[in-house]
Amino acid sequence: MKDLNFQKLLKNNHSWIQEKLKNYPDYFEKLSRPQSPRFLMIGCSDSRVPITSLVKAEPGEIFIHRNIANQVNLNDINLLSVLEYSVEHLYIKHIVVIGHYNCGGIAAAVDGVNQGLIENWVSPVNELYFKHIDELSLIKEKNKMCDRLSEINVIEQAHNIIKTPVLQRAFKSGNFPKIHAWIFDIYTGKLIQQNINEEELIEKGLLPDSYFKFNNSKN
Ligand code: CO
Repeated sequence: MKDLNFQKLLKNNHSWIQEKLKNYPDYFEKLSRPQSPRFLMIGCSDSRVPITSLVKAEPGEIFIHRNIANQVNLNDINLLSVLEYSVEHLYIKHIVVIGHYNCGGIAAAVDGVNQGLIENWVSPVNELYFKHIDELSLIKEKNKMCDRLSEINVIEQAHNIIKTPVLQRAFKSGNFPKIHAWIFDIYTGKLIQQNINEEELIEKGLLPDSYFKFNNSKN
């Protein structure tokens, strides 16, 4: 890792502007037009999980919300505003919740006590840990167990997205984004798609029957 000191930040900004203008003289003229991103991504605040870099996205391409352990909390007005705006005004095509291995928020949820405010924030993950304790207690290495909990957590948060009134309204309207859960494997750099079990959600009535009929492969 290179050592990025504070003075260097603004210098880097200057050279970034020069690079953009060299390749695209109208870059900032275009960037200042209204945004129309196709993706909303919800990730962990962890500095090692820079969403746009991982998928080589440019400014304007991804609407982003980040918090510790990529939580989708139905009382979180910040997240709900981002969600409503992206679905009902930007008409984004895909919502991706991105969890990651080696997540400090997940480890804090397992350790449980004396974590300060983070302890409150990740208490839903602590509940998930106990809900899946039978499976998780079979994994002897603590970091591997936490990585499995990261997978369980990201799937749960994708389900929470689906349960929000914003998405339920969108499903009824017939114009809705697809929901995905990914894990960023921090040991290899790979993004790994998780199975959110859409068939079961359709059966429960949480996803519409038309969920797969809508062909968005080109989106
Ligand atoms: Co994290």
